[in-house]
Amino acid sequence: MNDASSGISSMMKELRVFPPPPEFARQAHIRGMDQYKALHARSLKDPEGFWGEAAAELHWFRKWDRVLDWKLPDSKWFAGGKTNLAYNCLDLQIQRGRGDHTAILWEGEPGEVRRLTYRDVHREVCRFANGLRQLGVRQGDKVTLYMPMVPELAIAMLACARIGAPHSVIFGGFSAQAIVDRVIDAESHYMVTADGGYRRGSVVPLKANVDEACAKTNLVKKVVVLKRVGQDVPMKSGRDVWWHDVVESASADCPAEPLDAEHMLYLLYTSGSTGKPKGIHHTTGGYMVYTYLSAKYIFDLKPDDVYWCTADIGWVTGHSYVVYGILCNGVTCLMYEGAPNHPAWDRFWDIIQRHKVTKFYTAPTALRAFMRQGDEHPNKHNLSSLKLLGTVGEPINPEAWMWYHRVIGKERCPIVDTWWQTETGGALISPLPGATTTKPGSATMPFFGIDADIVDKNGTSQAANVGGFLVIRKPWPGMLRGIYGDRERFERQYWSEVPGVYFAGDSARRDEDGCFWIMGRIDDVIKVAGHRLGTAEVESALVSHPKVAEAAVVGIPHDLKGQAIAAFVTLRVGAAPSDAMKKELTEHVGRTMGALAKPEQIRFTDALPKTRSGKIMRRLLVEIATKGEVKGDTTTLEDFSILSKLATKDEE
Ligand code: WTA
Repeated sequence: MNDASSGISSMMKELRVFPPPPEFARQAHIRGMDQYKALHARSLKDPEGFWGEAAAELHWFRKWDRVLDWKLPDSKWFAGGKTNLAYNCLDLQIQRGRGDHTAILWEGEPGEVRRLTYRDVHREVCRFANGLRQLGVRQGDKVTLYMPMVPELAIAMLACARIGAPHSVIFGGFSAQAIVDRVIDAESHYMVTADGGYRRGSVVPLKANVDEACAKTNLVKKVVVLKRVGQDVPMKSGRDVWWHDVVESASADCPAEPLDAEHMLYLLYTSGSTGKPKGIHHTTGGYMVYTYLSAKYIFDLKPDDVYWCTADIGWVTGHSYVVYGILCNGVTCLMYEGAPNHPAWDRFWDIIQRHKVTKFYTAPTALRAFMRQGDEHPNKHNLSSLKLLGTVGEPINPEAWMWYHRVIGKERCPIVDTWWQTETGGALISPLPGATTTKPGSATMPFFGIDADIVDKNGTSQAANVGGFLVIRKPWPGMLRGIYGDRERFERQYWSEVPGVYFAGDSARRDEDGCFWIMGRIDDVIKVAGHRLGTAEVESALVSHPKVAEAAVVGIPHDLKGQAIAAFVTLRVGAAPSDAMKKELTEHVGRTMGALAKPEQIRFTDALPKTRSGKIMRRLLVEIATKGEVKGDTTTLEDFSILSKLATKDEE
């Protein structure tokens, strides 16, 4: 099927269906389609009533005056209300009798295990929050966190939330330049890092990257350094302080700051197809209520759950469903520091068995890698503690879904395929495990309060199975409030493509049962191993090499990573193409952006296909990278001779 106005066609047909297992449905929060449908209809008809009741399950220092103020594209949720997300994650849980319950169950890559109760986390958060204050951090100051997956990362986030200092977490796999860009954009004067972190048996030099970044900007006044690996790192006097020194003298008494519901909770940088990374701005009250309720219903959280989300906290999944949404439900959250295949390919299954994990949430890219390694790795372990499985980050191929269902879930566990974005704050389209009949490859139905639709360019709803743009018609509490410092881009990117609605940038179709099937990004962000990388950032990294004149990158399909990067590079005059140069450029991208961004293929070319206005035609490059020739529309191309040159220079 092909829809002329959106140009998106759907060719996928998947007929297998899996009703919720009856024994799961019997104990679930939401127990059937009738209940889902009634609640969903009510949440759309009376959003203020619905979300007001959800918010009342949590603690507020002052009740809101109004649940929602909506003036397209700006929403305010719970205006006039005062709350604190760290209070709800910790103090409220202790008041509810969960103080001695494990909050964070952590396993380091080398194998050590730490259990921190809600009371332990509360104490450490209060001490670190007081420590941050002693260093000069005030409400509204942005704190950059560049850390390994250790409990102290969650503690630092909660400490920031407790005193109203927005955090900006940078994924530990990113390089010094990524830190510089984000520190400057966020105007952040404070950083927290570690001497290093473990990844696949070796040490990631986090502090060294921070030092390199700080040499390029003088914004950073204080750097707190956690001793994680114990290696020697230079400490710059006056700027660098050890975490253990900061907390040693700090009091464990730190009342949570009552914050406006719309107070900025964090910035999280994500890639766009053009320009620099954008700082997605999330606020306190609405985000709290949305992540709380969506985690409760989608993962069907129960007091004895040992919940494990394998995402790094550096991504939004870690913010919403490792830390905030999970702890404010009072359950045990497992955190693992390292790589899935260290020391062997059964590490995840070993962790599930030893810690009796009940709910497991991971990414399709990881599942594809596991599938490839063979069933013997999971089959060595007892996975009978598992009750529910989840995925997030990209469309899951039906075959990977079936593998997950059969080999990991033993055909007993419902699978929740959750569709959402950094911008949405929490999952918007997902099965509810005790209610929804699932289909391999479909994220199924909208969560409560979510009015999702498939439309063409004019905003007209599309018929069943016709591909179009995925949009959300009404505001929801967890939605982004803006792109930091760039109002124009916020309006253009999310609110201008289709009038009057939130434009997600994904294409999708809805089938005859009302299930949504996501077809991918409309723009050309490249998604490597579940992580979004903007073409502009990778291109800038290539061009920063002294011998490169120009570069364009596109995504090409990759069995394991979902997508890999193919780069087209024009060298400066005098520089000669060679295999050694390819290697050098690959390493250069790794150093400037992180290993994730290393191109899989590099092709040298004398020129790039561009439109008259100078825009690179990536679509043509994709064709060349995947098929070796161009068949598509070339009418806007400026110089035709480039295509034949590119096609003949086809080499790996
Ligand atoms: C894609 C991750 C299909 C989608 C939480 C979206 C998905 C982008 C799914 C956001 C899913 C995420 N099925 N596609 N279940 N989940 N995506 O900001 O293209 O890293 O727009 O947020 O990932 O990626 P982000």
